[in-house]
Amino acid sequence: MESTLSLAPDAAGLARAADLLREGRLVAFPTETVYGLGADATNDRAVARVFEAKARPRFNPLIVHVPSVAAARRVAVFSAEAERLASAFWPGAMTLVLPLRPEAGLSELVTAGLATVAVRVPEHPVARALLDAFGGPLAAPSANPSGRVSPTRAAHVLDGLDGRIAAVIDGGACPVGVESTILALDPPRLLRPGGLPAEAIEACLGRSLATEAPAERPTAPGQLASHYAPSAAVRLNAAGPRPGEVWIGFASPGAAIELSESGDLVEAAANLFHALREADRLAGPGGRIAVAPIPDHGLGRAINDRLRRAAAPRP
Ligand code: TXA
Ligand code: MG
Repeated sequence: MESTLSLAPDAAGLARAADLLREGRLVAFPTETVYGLGADATNDRAVARVFEAKARPRFNPLIVHVPSVAAARRVAVFSAEAERLASAFWPGAMTLVLPLRPEAGLSELVTAGLATVAVRVPEHPVARALLDAFGGPLAAPSANPSGRVSPTRAAHVLDGLDGRIAAVIDGGACPVGVESTILALDPPRLLRPGGLPAEAIEACLGRSLATEAPAERPTAPGQLASHYAPSAAVRLNAAGPRPGEVWIGFASPGAAIELSESGDLVEAAANLFHALREADRLAGPGGRIAVAPIPDHGLGRAINDRLRRAAAPRP
C-alpha cells in the first residue's frame, strides 16, 4: 500500500503530478471522457505498474495521450483519412488506432507488442495542462480496477484504487462521461462506440463505418462481453422496477435515479457511470438494478454498449 495523494489542478498540483510521473509512478487525472490512470508511456516499469494497479490482463494495449496532432504524428503514421479525422475532432473524445512508429520509443507494454498504437489528444484543460507539465506521451486506461465501472469523479478513482497509485488530480466531474470512441482506419472501423457519436465521424468521412467483428481474442477490454460491471445484477429495457430492483430512469418519472429527466442523451452519458455506482450502493449486496430503455442513436449507442456489458453474465 502507498498513500494516494489528492492533488488540486493548480500549478503546484500539476508540477507535483509531473514529477511523480517522471519517477515512473502512477497519477490519475481527469479527461473530458473519464478519469485516466496516467503513466510515462516510454517507461516499461511505469506501464507495468498500470496493469498491476488495475489487475488488468496483460494482452490489452493502452491509449497514448498526447497534447497535439503534431505530437501524435511522432508516435503514429497518419493516412489522409486519419489527418482529416484528427483535424475535425481533436482535441476530443476520439481515439485512432494507427500504425506505430517504432522509433517513438513507446514501451512495448503500451502496444502489447502490436504494430499499431491507439492515440488520442484530450480536450480537458487539466489533462492538457498535465501533458504540458510532463512533456511526453502518457499511457492512460480508465482509472478503475479491471472490469469495473469507469470513474467520472476523483472520488470514484479513490473508491477503486486508493493505496494502489501515487496520486489523483481532482478536476471535478467529467463532462462527457463515457470513454472515447475508438476507430481503426483504412478502411474505417468502429472498435468501440463512445463519446464522439459515430454519425459525426461518418459525416466527416462521407462514408459509413464498419463495426469490427468481435476478434477471437478481444483486442479491447471494451470488447469483452462483461465489462463496466457494477456488483448488482442489471436488467435492461425495463419499463419499470420489479420488487426489490433499483430503477435507473431516462425521462422516467418515479425512477430512483435519473440519467436525464428531459431525455437528453448528452446529459445521460455524463451521468451514466455515477448512476450505476449510486444504484449499486442503493441495491446493496446481492442487489438488482433495472434500467429504462435508452434510444440507440448518437451517444445512446455508447450508453447502450456500456449497459449491455454491465448486464452481461459475469465470467
Ligand atoms: O476515454 C477514454 O478512452 C479513456 C480516457 C482515459 O482517455 N481511456 C480508456 O482507456 O478508456 P482503456 O485502456 O480503458 O481503453 C482503451 C481501449 C482498450 O480497450 C484497448 O484494448 C484499446 O483501446 N486499444 C488500445 N490499443 C489498441 C490497438 N492497437 N488496437 C486495438 N485496440 C486498442
Ligand atoms: Mg476501461
